[in-house]
Amino acid sequence: MRQRNESDGGAGVTRRDFFLGSAAAMTPLVLARRVGAAPIDDVIKVGLVGCGGRGTGAAAQALQAPGNQVLTAVADVFADKCERTLKNLAAHLGESAADRLRVDEAHRFVGFDAYEKLLATDIDVVVLATPPHFRPAMLKAAIEAGKHVFCEKPVAVDAPGARSVLETVAVAREKKLSLVCGFCWRYNVKHRAFYEQLHAGRLGDVRAFYSTYNASPLRTSKRDPSWSEMEFQLRNWQHFNWLSGDHVVEQAVHSLDKQAWTFGDAPPESCVAVGGRQARFGEETGNIYDHFGVTFDYAGGKKAFHMCRQMANCATENNDYWYGSKGNGVINGWANRFTIDGETPWEYEGEGNDMYQQEHDELFQSIRGEGPYKNDGVWMTTSTMLAIMARMAAYTGQVITWDRAMASEERLGPDRYEWGDLAAKDVPVPGRTKFV
Ligand SMILES: NC(=O)c1ccc[n+]([C@@H]2O[C@H](COP(=O)([O-])OP(=O)(O)OC[C@H]3O[C@@H](n4cnc5c(N)ncnc54)[C@H](O)[C@@H]3O)[C@@H](O)[C@H]2O)c1
Repeated sequence: MRQRNESDGGAGVTRRDFFLGSAAAMTPLVLARRVGAAPIDDVIKVGLVGCGGRGTGAAAQALQAPGNQVLTAVADVFADKCERTLKNLAAHLGESAADRLRVDEAHRFVGFDAYEKLLATDIDVVVLATPPHFRPAMLKAAIEAGKHVFCEKPVAVDAPGARSVLETVAVAREKKLSLVCGFCWRYNVKHRAFYEQLHAGRLGDVRAFYSTYNASPLRTSKRDPSWSEMEFQLRNWQHFNWLSGDHVVEQAVHSLDKQAWTFGDAPPESCVAVGGRQARFGEETGNIYDHFGVTFDYAGGKKAFHMCRQMANCATENNDYWYGSKGNGVINGWANRFTIDGETPWEYEGEGNDMYQQEHDELFQSIRGEGPYKNDGVWMTTSTMLAIMARMAAYTGQVITWDRAMASEERLGPDRYEWGDLAAKDVPVPGRTKFV
C-alpha cells in the first residue's frame, strides 16, 4: 500500500493531488441570478486566502466548476506563497489561464491583514484555506462582507472559535450566502451511497462505530535564521497546537466527521481519551501529540472509538467500521472499498467522483440558484468540535462532556499577530494540564 505522508482526505490522495481535480470542461457563460446579498453576474469573481497546497487546489476547482469563474485576488501572510500559487495555477490551467486568472499586482495581498484587504475588493466568493486557527475570524469577516464561502476543514481550533463560527453561519443563512466546507467525504458519491444504506437501516441499529487515521508524519521546515519565531511557527503550522488544533483536529477530524454523519450529526454526551508524544523529534515538530485514542459515549449507550497517529515506520490505516444489529459495515478509505455484510449484504459498485471538484460544483450551483442552497455551517462545526473535545480529554486526562467542551473559554494562540517572538507552549501533560 502507498505510504501515507502528506495525505489528508485519504483514498490515496496526497496533498499534492488536490491540485489535479477533475478536468471539468469550461462551460459557456450562464445567466445571472440574484442570490445572496448582492446580484451575481455571469462572471463570478473568486478570491483566495491561504495560498498553500489546498488553497491552490481549491482555487483550481472553483475555476473549473461549471460556469464562468475568475480568480481576481489572492492573500497570504507570505508573498512567496501568493506568487507560487499563481504560477502553479497558470501551469495547471494551461490555455484557459489567460481568461481565468485576473490577479493584477494590486490584488496580491500580503500580511496578517491581507484577508481584510481581499474582502474589501469586489470578489463574490472567497476560498478560506489558511491554517484553521484563523478560520473563525476570517469566516466572520467574509460573511459580514457579503461573500459566499468555500472554507476548508477544520473550522476552528477551540470552543470560542467554534461558537463564533456558529454565530457566523446563522448570519450566512439569513443573508442567503452559500457556504461549503472541505469535509470532502460528504461530497464523495461512494460515501453518500454508503450512508444512504446506513441511514435506511441496512445495518439495523448501529451500536458502535470505530475509525482509524494512522498516518505518517507531515512535512516540516527547518528554521531559517532570518525567520522570526512567528514565521517559524507559521511555516510549521501543523505542528503547533494553537495553529492546527493538533493532528486529531487538523487531520483525523475527517474520521470524526464520518462518525458525526453516522449519528445524524447529534453530538455525543461525553468522551475520554489518551494521547501523547513519543516519536516527534526536533523543534520544528512543535508541541503537538503524535497519537490519540478516544472513546465517545452517545445517548442510548452507543459508543464510538477513534485512533489516530502520525508516526514514521508504523502501520498505517484509514478505515471506518460500523457494528449494527443487522450487519456490519466497512469503508477501507485508502483502498476505496465499501462493504456491508449481515442480513442484506451490499457493496458499492458504481463509478466514483472527484469529491474536491464536487464541493465546488455544488457551491457554484447554490450561488447561481441552480441547485439547493448550501450551508454546511452547523454540521461542520459539530464535526470540528468532536475533535476539539477529544483533544481536551487527551490533554487533561479528564472526562469531557459535550456541554463542558462547548462552554470552554480556552482560546489558543496569541492575542496579537505580529512578526517577532512568540513563546512556544509546552507539550500538555494529562493529569497536570487543566481544562479551561
Ligand atoms: N479537505 C482536505 O482533504 C484537506 C487537505 C489538505 C489540507 N486541508 C486543510 O486546508 C487548510 C490549509 O492546509 P494546506 O495543506 O493547504 O496548508 P499550507 O501550509 O500548504 O497552506 C496554508 C497557507 O496559508 C497561509 N497562511 C497562514 N496564515 C495565514 C494568515 N493569517 N493569513 C493568510 N494566509 C495565511 C500560509 O502561508 C500557507 O500558504 C488546513 O485547514 C488543512 O487542514 C484540507
